[in-house]
Amino acid sequence: MTATNKYTFNSLFWVLIFISSLGLSFVSQAAITVIKADALVDVQNSKIVNNPIVIIENNVIQYVGKQGSKTLPEEASFIDLSGHTLLPGLMDMHVHLTSDANIHGYRRLKVSTPRSAITGVKNARATLMSGFTTVRNVGAPGYADVALRDAINDGDIIGPRMYVSGPSIGVTGGHCDNNLLPFEYKATSEGVADGPWAVRAKVRQNIKYGADVIKFCATGGVLSKGTKVGAQQFSFEEMQALITEAHLRGLTVAAHAHGTDGIKNAIRAGVDSVEHASFLDKEAIALAKEMGTYLSMDIYVTEYILGEGEKAGILEESLAKERTVGKRQRASFTNAHLAGVNMIFGSDAGVYPHGDNARQLSRMVRFGMSAMEVIQAATLHPADLLGKSNLLGSIDTGKIADIIAVKGDVMNDLTLLEHIPVVIKDGIIVKHEK
Ligand code: ARG
Repeated sequence: MTATNKYTFNSLFWVLIFISSLGLSFVSQAAITVIKADALVDVQNSKIVNNPIVIIENNVIQYVGKQGSKTLPEEASFIDLSGHTLLPGLMDMHVHLTSDANIHGYRRLKVSTPRSAITGVKNARATLMSGFTTVRNVGAPGYADVALRDAINDGDIIGPRMYVSGPSIGVTGGHCDNNLLPFEYKATSEGVADGPWAVRAKVRQNIKYGADVIKFCATGGVLSKGTKVGAQQFSFEEMQALITEAHLRGLTVAAHAHGTDGIKNAIRAGVDSVEHASFLDKEAIALAKEMGTYLSMDIYVTEYILGEGEKAGILEESLAKERTVGKRQRASFTNAHLAGVNMIFGSDAGVYPHGDNARQLSRMVRFGMSAMEVIQAATLHPADLLGKSNLLGSIDTGKIADIIAVKGDVMNDLTLLEHIPVVIKDGIIVKHEK
């Protein structure tokens, strides 16, 4: 080494030491936030804690206890939420952020994938601002949901923590296909596959392009043209192939299923959650219980479809289907809950406006749950379904600081959650209305 080289090496060394010492001082100056409130909903122990404090370091909850139970760190910043009740950030396990509630039926044909991603930017914000800090997006054309999730994670836009499926997988002409146009247009949705190996290939493709979860259509649906809502679509063999493939790769599977046979076969094939689950009978309920399958039942959306659907472009045949499905689904919800089946909150927002997700909470009480059970279905249980119980779903030490706050007696009136003034995601206050 020549003298000059040595000199350069030495100064570089000191510059590096200087930079790393700067880095270290950033790390040691962790941002500590102390929140004080009137009450906290402890979903883990099904109880209310009065006069709580929560200490957050960066984005992680470090301490939860009663006020006065701990000397508070001097360097902390304080958020005084007196008059408020703290709850874990809400979690919706069935949304379509890239869909617009005003664009249904044939109107959907003019929406490109890039346009749907931009719609998603708006809806992601609305969803987060309404107190939903985590969502599972089950079905989006063109992997627009993957792009949206990544943009949120990269900090380019704000929105909830997203777990996404990419395109839904389904049979030719089924609920997950596009059946709006005649044959010569050759319109087929990306997730269409027939036969066990073709179905496995779609699972692999979705994983390749970024899916966290697999969504498939086990039966017909309400909003698809020409499908019988009660009829099974994939064969049992196809469902088994799809679910085996997804599980092999470490992903969970959500099945759209209204009809009884489709629900039962999806459960028998090992699906993790059944979406809609409208026509449950005793055997289906017993199977779900035995297998520990989660039911994600969108019991509010009926009100929107029958009230606003026609204006939004929903086809008459879909409105007709909804008139029978909605009633049966609510009865099924009551029965499944009574039997002790695992229930999670799933709204199908996107069919109705994003940001109105919480309207379903009070309906879940109306159809049989206690307020605590509803809140658990929208916090604790989704975290379990996502395999994230160690990080999400409750306000507890070691979990990520996703916290909301509301005023008033929320346990006696879940409609208070329809307007949430304080939202904290990942330790950052994203909304604080005084
Ligand atoms: N996306 C669902 C479908 O088209 C919506 C079902 C809405 N109706 C209901 N009662 N949950 O089938």
